[in-house]
Amino acid sequence: QWDENRVQNFLIIWWKSSSSPLDDYCYNEPHCDPYAWGDLVPSCHPLLEEHHSPIDLDGRMSRNQSLDSLLLEGFQEVQTGPWILQNDGHSVILQVGSGMSVRGGGLPDVYHTAQLHFHWGGPASNGSEHTVDRRRYPMEMHVVNVKAVHPNFTAALGDPTGLAVLGVFIDVAYADNVHFGHISQKLSSVAYKGQTTKIKPFPLLNLLPKHNMSQYYRYYGSLTTPPCSQAVVWTLYEVPVHISWSQLAQFTSQIFSTEEDAEQVTPLQNNFRHVHPTFSRGVFMSKGAKRFPASSSHPLRATVTLLHALLIG
Ligand SMILES: *[C@@H]1O[C@H](CO)[C@@H](O)[C@H](O)[C@H]1NC(C)=O
Ligand SMILES: *[C@@H]1O[C@H](CO)[C@@H](O)[C@H](O)[C@H]1NC(C)=O
Ligand SMILES: *[C@@H]1O[C@H](CO)[C@@H](O)[C@H](O)[C@H]1NC(C)=O
Ligand SMILES: *[C@@H]1O[C@H](CO)[C@@H](O)[C@H](O)[C@H]1NC(C)=O
Ligand SMILES: [Zn+2]
Repeated sequence: QWDENRVQNFLIIWWKSSSSPLDDYCYNEPHCDPYAWGDLVPSCHPLLEEHHSPIDLDGRMSRNQSLDSLLLEGFQEVQTGPWILQNDGHSVILQVGSGMSVRGGGLPDVYHTAQLHFHWGGPASNGSEHTVDRRRYPMEMHVVNVKAVHPNFTAALGDPTGLAVLGVFIDVAYADNVHFGHISQKLSSVAYKGQTTKIKPFPLLNLLPKHNMSQYYRYYGSLTTPPCSQAVVWTLYEVPVHISWSQLAQFTSQIFSTEEDAEQVTPLQNNFRHVHPTFSRGVFMSKGAKRFPASSSHPLRATVTLLHALLIG
């Protein structure tokens, strides 16, 4: 049973983990950036472990016809709140309490939704973690779900399928996204590391690509932050959601990785980890995915297309 105690337990563990030595990582200084994480935490070392995230998603994926839409329970309802928005110095995290879960879509079990957070770039650069055919989107949202059988987050990290993370690409458009407004309007209250604020719950489904939920990619990988545990079943939705330039700018220029009273304030930017090789891993498209037609993944066809492009110019 997923009760309030267990949620409290989770929050405490998240809170503790953000004041442990694991918190000493960063994104933009050579001594603690993603290439140095392996020195801080061995499990982040790219040569010791082979199932890292993120990765580039390209036309070499194969289709798996048994990957149908996931069942998102409680995502359409307004949950009891409040929810807590927090700046942990590495991202902005929304703790969503209990009441939501995901299953189906080839997931091995039921997973309870714990939090969502974001990765972004800078004023002139994109910052999604996964790339699609080498393209980096402006932002990426991660909805983190924990396998129901685990009593706490630490236990889930020891299970190769302990977490199910839903990744949503965020692109820019002219109009504000009113649903993201629930979060972006509150960002000024969590500008500095350690700050938290309450948020009135809203249907989480509104942040997802509602009409294209059967279109996604699937692979097994890791957390993209220390301890980089290889414990994640990844689901990346193919179709992005859109926010406005000004909503994007609120992330890229109004959030800081430093505390309010720090001598020098540092904007939190480019908080994404570099892409990793897939090695022998299978990367799959869902039954409904559309972007990469099966034929275009054929190497001969790709070569012919390239030749064609070179000849025609
Ligand atoms: C397709 O997905 C299902 C559900 O995750 C899995 O059991 C099956 O092994 C996958 N097929 C291949 C060829 O990997
Ligand atoms: C960054 O995102 C913009 C807007 O979606 C896109 O036009 C551009 O190609 C992206 N840049 C890279 C390097 O992927
Ligand atoms: C997490 O659960 C595991 C397995 O039940 C237990 O051994 C461990 O002490 C728990 N850790 C915390 C921090 O509660
Ligand atoms: C999203 O889903 C709608 C409705 O099924 C479909 O018409 C549209 O082509 C899909 N969009 C993309 C980019 O695949
Ligand atoms: Zn993330």
